Amino acid sequence: MQTLRAQPKAIKSQGAKKAKNTHSSGDKRFKVLDMTMKRNQYRQDALIEVLHKAQEAFGYLEEDVLLYVARGLKLPLSRVYGVATFYHLFSLKPKGAHTCVVCLGTACYVKGASALLETLDKVASLHPGETTPDGKVSLMTARCIGACGIAPAAVFDGKVCGKQTAESVLENVKGWLKEE
Ligand code: FES
Repeated sequence: MQTLRAQPKAIKSQGAKKAKNTHSSGDKRFKVLDMTMKRNQYRQDALIEVLHKAQEAFGYLEEDVLLYVARGLKLPLSRVYGVATFYHLFSLKPKGAHTCVVCLGTACYVKGASALLETLDKVASLHPGETTPDGKVSLMTARCIGACGIAPAAVFDGKVCGKQTAESVLENVKGWLKEE
């Protein structure tokens, strides 16, 4: 909570100009957020729509994302955080120690994203929105993470990986499941 309270100062000093550029991490999912905020002319009453899009792109709303939205819409982080925690459709954290987000956007779907989910279901009993009973892996889905050119895409602990196959997805997830 302390970090959250400390952040609004940074929001003020950096202003909205930066928000119109993508995130410094280069993660293209922030571009999806930029486009949504721009389409809504950075209106503060678009907060829920923007958060919704953020959840679609990231699978859940991590603190960095909430901060980015707060800065873009020039809202206090406390307000953004309040709305994100109020609505049950938003989830702030995956429950597992590791997170796999499979993109189900059109480009990824066409390139076989649903087969990735089927494999995870069959081989590792992992279902979207759920966490393995040992708490090691959460599986989430997203709708377009801004990496359509390398579809089908998945995100492993925040790292976007393209051209995924059932084998590559399984390899990552199985590695996590084997961890002590
Ligand atoms: S549809 Fe999956 S990255 Fe765009």
